[in-house]
Amino acid sequence: LWGQTEGEYFPAPWGEGSADWADAYAKAREFVSQLTLVEKVNLTTGVGWEGEKCVGNIGSIPRLAFKALCLEDSPLGVRDTDFNSAFPAGVTAVTTWDRNLIYQRGVDMGAEHRDKGVDAQLGPVVGPLGRIPEGGRGWEGFSPDPVLAGIAVAETIKGMQSSGIMATTKHFILNEQEIFRQGAPPANLSLNSISSNIDDVTLHELYLWPFADAVRAGTAAIMCSYNKINNEYACQNSYTLNHLLKGELGFQGFVMTDWGGHHSGVTAALSGLDMSMPGDIGFDSGNSFWGANLTIGVLNGTIPQWRLDDMCVRILAAYYYVDREGNQVPDAPNFSAWTLDTFGYEHWVAQENYEQINYHVDVRGNHRDNIRATAVAGTVLLKNNGALPLTGYEKLTTVFGYDSAENPWGPNGCSDRGCDNGTLAMGWGSGTANFPYLITPLEAIKAEVQAVSNGAFESVTDDYAYTQMVALARRATQVNGVCIAFGNSDSGEGYIAVDGNLGDRNNLTLWNNFDQMIANITSECNNTVVVIHSTGPVLLDSFYDNPNVTAIVWAGIPGEQSGNAITDILYGKANPGGKLPFTLGQYRGQYGADDLYLPNNGLESPQSDFAEGVFIDYRVFDKLGVTPLYEFGFGLSYTNFSFSNIQIQKHSAPAYTTPTGMTSPAPTYGVVSNNSADYVFPAGFHQVPLYIYPFLNNTDLGSSSGDLEYGSDYVFPAGGYNSSSQPYLPAGGAPGGNPGLYDVLYTVTAEVTNTGSVVGDEVAQLYLNLGCPSDPVVVLRNFDRITIQPGQTVTFSADLTRRDLSNWDSPTQNW
Ligand code: NOJ
Repeated sequence: LWGQTEGEYFPAPWGEGSADWADAYAKAREFVSQLTLVEKVNLTTGVGWEGEKCVGNIGSIPRLAFKALCLEDSPLGVRDTDFNSAFPAGVTAVTTWDRNLIYQRGVDMGAEHRDKGVDAQLGPVVGPLGRIPEGGRGWEGFSPDPVLAGIAVAETIKGMQSSGIMATTKHFILNEQEIFRQGAPPANLSLNSISSNIDDVTLHELYLWPFADAVRAGTAAIMCSYNKINNEYACQNSYTLNHLLKGELGFQGFVMTDWGGHHSGVTAALSGLDMSMPGDIGFDSGNSFWGANLTIGVLNGTIPQWRLDDMCVRILAAYYYVDREGNQVPDAPNFSAWTLDTFGYEHWVAQENYEQINYHVDVRGNHRDNIRATAVAGTVLLKNNGALPLTGYEKLTTVFGYDSAENPWGPNGCSDRGCDNGTLAMGWGSGTANFPYLITPLEAIKAEVQAVSNGAFESVTDDYAYTQMVALARRATQVNGVCIAFGNSDSGEGYIAVDGNLGDRNNLTLWNNFDQMIANITSECNNTVVVIHSTGPVLLDSFYDNPNVTAIVWAGIPGEQSGNAITDILYGKANPGGKLPFTLGQYRGQYGADDLYLPNNGLESPQSDFAEGVFIDYRVFDKLGVTPLYEFGFGLSYTNFSFSNIQIQKHSAPAYTTPTGMTSPAPTYGVVSNNSADYVFPAGFHQVPLYIYPFLNNTDLGSSSGDLEYGSDYVFPAGGYNSSSQPYLPAGGAPGGNPGLYDVLYTVTAEVTNTGSVVGDEVAQLYLNLGCPSDPVVVLRNFDRITIQPGQTVTFSADLTRRDLSNWDSPTQNW
């Protein structure tokens, strides 16, 4: 597939309602059977950017009392509103390695979206996976390890959807860097997007893996990404959408575009796209590849009715699958993504319908408890020579760095958190939410010291106030006090540049010249505790082995309870148990794959060859035999653990078989008249300016299309029109792929003993070598976070499935 320009993977698989989707499909088919052509089209196409109150909206079907759907970011809370929680980012959630906490975060985020009137939450993220350590959006997701990411995404989806909202797993697929995602940085739709070029084995064993887990967990929706894959756009890529996602992974829900990731009418439809977001071609352009053009496509036969019907059944099935018609759902969003003002325009860009648009509904419930617990459990103790835990009785506690304090402009002072002022509790971009408050480390530590001992406390939060820092550090040392230094490294989405970083970071160093700041502090302070907030890997080489650095803590991207969480850890109210979800190397070169910062293909799509194959993060360190500073899965505790008595039990699993039988032929629902007069705008219909409608301007399809090349001799793939029964793929057959992949073949157990004197959590991790010379030295395959009392021994138990023990075999297209 390397260098493939246009795959031939047709027809688009029609949803069959397999596994636990059967009831949802029955309801969806009945509903779709009643729809007219324009009502169907209305389900598939957004109303246009800022046309309604959410970041994405599709139209309603008033005749059948079907409300318009609201799609809203983000993967860490409800974006663009107020009185919502700011949850820890995915990277901190996964650092807990705790399935229960990850699940509960999903439940709580889903509940907040539901109570704001959102139908689909635009998260979670497993694309980017984390190929490139500088990649801007890794923190929105989980880990560059596909098994860890896969377990985290599945728990998150199950949690979110248990609250009755649709999860949207994104971005499918290989959206591994921000620069050039839509052409020139930060965004220029007139240039071609970057192409991620990959081989079949790497795609399956690494990047597709967590998406399989997402599909198996029942994700209602998938968002296709901005980039190209092997030189075809992700949202019209018949190989990735038809073949991999809907064929091999048996995905039963619907595919929506990323915002502006839609590039064609017919090709995208035949290639497996189901929903266009936000519906218009350019934001607020007033035209669409779909909308009226999808109506026209069905009328002129370039898009078969069964394909449109399948889009609609998939969208409705997803809606029923998560029980959206249940009565706990508000009728309409009670907020506007475009303003926090109470009154404003419903149709924001058109400035129409001035009314109350924000109801300021407080949806936070008791979620802060799990937010704090997750931030605590997701903190990693990297180094400790005995300095931690602190007691609160230190004679002088000193805190250094802007990363300890609040942004002087306020916690929400930079739109979409597009700056790095103050303590880092969230990266930047669409993957954000407004803070209801932000507990800073500075205030929480000060309060702790006050409460415990009425102790002395001073801080310097200007990172460049070296003179004051050195003086304070000297005083702290003279009275056996402590210096706690906070530093960070930020990143985000490519439409915002911060300090010259176009989403992706320019390097892995800590910001504001933190290395120099630490050098100054440690020149005087012999008890310096370093706390790092970062969106991804950072370089600690300048100070990690400095004897005056007595402890190092990686505190991730913790969300609103940041200060309370780090205080719990520093003062031993909680015992650290988080483990690194990525590797911290000694220098940048150890990581291998790099961001593509400069165009390498003229004005055509920059070419990003994933030539390193599966060797990213710890797999490349192992391959090259280089020692990182702190390896993937590493994290200390205030106690110690020992492991013993590893046992492997073999199970008699059924043989692995290829799915038999054939699909049904493509079904259609209801009869579509081919009289274009039935679909023109109804008489007297008020058109909101720039709004995307399914109606035709007049009965002439060509002039209604707005396409100057309408009627040209486009050649569409013949296979795209094939509606006959299809065989199942060898690796397919059910949501998540061939069910035999998930048979348990072995169970591994081991005894884990807490040999210290305080209760603590250990994350037992099971790694395998798969056995071929070309395989990574080891790969993570399972884990469990276990709480163990002092002196207690607990049995760790982990299953290994057939998939865990398999390689992808390209010739047979099977595991
Ligand atoms: C673009 C981002 O890539 C995507 O993650 C987000 O959901 C949409 N914008 C909508 O804000």
